[in-house]
Amino acid sequence: MNTYKIALYPGDGIGVDVTDAAADVLRAVAEKHGDFALDFTRFDWGIRYYEAHGEVAPPDFLEQLRPFDAIFLGALGWPEKLPDNVTLKPLITMRQAFDQWACVRPARTFAGVPTPLRTTEPIDMIVVRENSEGEYVDNGGRFRRGFSDEFAVQTALHTRRGIERALRFGFELAKKRRRRLTMVTKSNAQRYGYTLWDDVLETLKPEFADVEVDKQHIDAISMNFVRRPAFFDVVVGSNLFGDILTDLSGAITGSLGLNPSANLNPEREAPSLFEPVHGSAPDIAGQGIANPAGAILAAGMMLEWLGEAKAAAAITRAVESVLARGVRTPDLGGECSTAAFTDSVIEALSAEA
Ligand code: NAD
Ligand code: IPM
Ligand code: MN
Repeated sequence: MNTYKIALYPGDGIGVDVTDAAADVLRAVAEKHGDFALDFTRFDWGIRYYEAHGEVAPPDFLEQLRPFDAIFLGALGWPEKLPDNVTLKPLITMRQAFDQWACVRPARTFAGVPTPLRTTEPIDMIVVRENSEGEYVDNGGRFRRGFSDEFAVQTALHTRRGIERALRFGFELAKKRRRRLTMVTKSNAQRYGYTLWDDVLETLKPEFADVEVDKQHIDAISMNFVRRPAFFDVVVGSNLFGDILTDLSGAITGSLGLNPSANLNPEREAPSLFEPVHGSAPDIAGQGIANPAGAILAAGMMLEWLGEAKAAAAITRAVESVLARGVRTPDLGGECSTAAFTDSVIEALSAEA
């Protein structure tokens, strides 16, 4: 029997609630399926760790996490307590140090869940976000700090290799789906980095002739996510554009609380990281009302990545059936608590034949 070692990194705010929910569902599904086991180790890093130790994670946190089969993260950050660029640093460091270059963020509508859009066509898209470079490279500086002539430089870094692997990943995914790939850039204004994206796309197109390719700039695609979201199948973009678009893809499917994210190291040389797309939501923290669906679905993506496809599919079915029955947290217009939603998912799992 395979036993997977999972690092739980709940973080801050609702990150803790949704991680507890996802871990409960994972325990239930492992017990139900009976042919694999999960060995959890919890790391209570984040703001409370900072209050005790003066840093948000220990200096050797990467070494502590490296031996795990996967990392499950809740969410980090609480801007009123500590600047985000301090709290969020470990997340970006993990993605880059573990070369989790493919960030996979599905967004879909669910039966029974109202969306804010007028269109009733189902939405089923996956945003593939380049996750290792681009606008998130820690590159630049602040000069003449505090003076009136202060200036800052921050330079994005796009490599042919980085772009090519992200696009290839998107093409392979599109081949298994509706065979449409949309690449997002802003190459009409940013004439170096994003025109390299355009060039790499052209070199790959002949190899994937059976995939319909479409290019949109970030401004236009933002409008089209709202105007005709059902059009989109696989969307590939740089680190920053993938980030921005996946808050939007969450909102148009009903709530950001529904969306999972996988930060994959496809070479499997380092652990991959699974998390909901949303943040720590200080505005609702401590109220027990966070929607745990995104985190639970991310746990499903983790099982699939680990090779437990049957258990992963069972999690998706359980979430679908619970939402279809109208079990909803307040972000979806319901009155259900995080714990009650999670219990319903666990009941749905155990009720399955
Ligand atoms: P957020 O995603 O935390 O919240 C945005 C809005 O969506 C809030 O109104 C919140 O209540 C709501 N929301 C989010 N998730 C929800 C859920 N599961 N259930 C119900 N409602 C939900 O974004 P923010 O408020 O801009 O950021 C808060 C903090 O989280 C900041 O410190 C930010 O940097 C951080 N953040 C962290 C991550 C991460 O750790 N991966 C991701 C995004 C933001
Ligand atoms: C996300 C988050 C992070 C990102 C932040 C919190 C650093 O918004 O995972 O979507 O920008 O990648
Ligand atoms: Mn984001």
